[in-house]
Amino acid sequence: MRFLYFLVGLLVITKLSAQNSELFHEQYRPQYHFTPQKYWTNDPNGLVFQNGVYHLFFQYNPFENKWGHMSWGHATSADLIHWKELPVAILEEDGKMIFSGSAVLDQNNKTGFNEKKNSQPLVAIYTSHTDTLQAQHLAYSNDNGYTWKKYPNNPVLNLNKKDFRDPNVFWYELGKYWVMAVSQPVEQQISFYKSTNLKNWEHLSEFGPRGDLSGVWECPDLMQVPIVGEKEKTKWVLFTSQNSTMQYFVGDFDGIRFLEDNPHTSIHKQDYGTDYYAAVTYHNTKEKQPISIGWINNWEYANEIPTKPWKGAMSIPRKLSVKNINHDWVLIQEPINTLNKLGSNQQMIANVLVTGTKILKQKGKSFKMDFDLYPVAKGTSGLKLAVGGDRYFMIGYDSKKEKIFIDRTNTFNGFSKKFAAINRSDANLKTNEGKIHLKVFFDESIVEIYTDDGMVVFTSQVFPEKNDTGIILFSDGGISRFENIRYQKINSAH
Ligand code: FRU
Repeated sequence: MRFLYFLVGLLVITKLSAQNSELFHEQYRPQYHFTPQKYWTNDPNGLVFQNGVYHLFFQYNPFENKWGHMSWGHATSADLIHWKELPVAILEEDGKMIFSGSAVLDQNNKTGFNEKKNSQPLVAIYTSHTDTLQAQHLAYSNDNGYTWKKYPNNPVLNLNKKDFRDPNVFWYELGKYWVMAVSQPVEQQISFYKSTNLKNWEHLSEFGPRGDLSGVWECPDLMQVPIVGEKEKTKWVLFTSQNSTMQYFVGDFDGIRFLEDNPHTSIHKQDYGTDYYAAVTYHNTKEKQPISIGWINNWEYANEIPTKPWKGAMSIPRKLSVKNINHDWVLIQEPINTLNKLGSNQQMIANVLVTGTKILKQKGKSFKMDFDLYPVAKGTSGLKLAVGGDRYFMIGYDSKKEKIFIDRTNTFNGFSKKFAAINRSDANLKTNEGKIHLKVFFDESIVEIYTDDGMVVFTSQVFPEKNDTGIILFSDGGISRFENIRYQKINSAH
């Protein structure tokens, strides 16, 4: 009998360790983008920095690999690259889901949630969701975010509306109060409120409808962003998410209302790719500069992507600044420097003139490449990655249209008609002294592209087969020049 127990025990241990050794080695699994070990995630939530630790909470289904039972998952990191996943922080309860929201450090115990001397409570402000009501609730933690209690007198802000969500709160030092930006999705407005204790909220103003009105507005975030090259000077930037893409507004906030500076003849987007949504920021960071994280997926097909046992990933954290270009404020996004820690030795590739295609000897699915492209005058040029058989993911520049684009038509898309239909996206981009600079990050099933130092960014998913590791430079319609080509393998963060 004992022997039998021993055998069963041995089997269980072998099975578990087999599972563990497979974890993070699954097909498509990103190696340096955050993904939960298992099950579904969407929006990043509660981005807050406390005592050297970055907290990342995220919309999470603790039971299944699809949307549902929304709760807040939790992970922490000291460098925003190596993440430790912790137990689920705030759980769905009594049929009330925990929708998106933010978290703040209550340094002076203004909430009275501090249960121990000298500890500083973390307070989460989130939307409690049922089919008929969305209202803003609080939960708090006195052990650095490890365990959470829901505030017994919830809700703290309730308009008795079906759609009213995604509160984003920050401390407004000038007025010495907290400000909440919260979405009125159907009206396509952002409401601003203020509070000194996070429990009583006073209405300040409304912003919108404006800009992109193609879908309901979700996940606002208002933050102060440094101006490139002007020390100590900042602008206020407002983020919203709608219809599977995002937009930003640049202007000023006077403690009551947000006023946009840009004339708004065009819509400003954080990301022109197919898979970037619900990004919010760390307002207080080591770098004294906001850092954003977005969800890499698209509601059109989010539940259908072929990844398991997880679905959904977070973007590379991006440092934000703004720049005034021809009387237009533009957001600049740069991948955080700590990502360099994972890079292997950089390889320089000789400058090259390309007509047709040039296959590089470098291969892989986890790398960073950057180069200057002097595109062919009247054609298309760029880079193909995840190349294998007749499959490839294309990043191209169309010189006639002056557009940069991604195209995943020739990649595996049989798992979803909607994914297959969204196979291309583009953005206007002019060359600068005849060239554009491209920085490309590839991570198994995620491509992030930063052009011209982060003025135009693309994030997209691609699902390559095992051996689709080729990299090709191409130029159709004449000669293109590729200069300062650098390739660097990026090691796993796991
Ligand atoms: C955005 C969103 C939010 C909501 C959450 C629910 O992606 O729809 O508005 O709080 O997802 O998971």
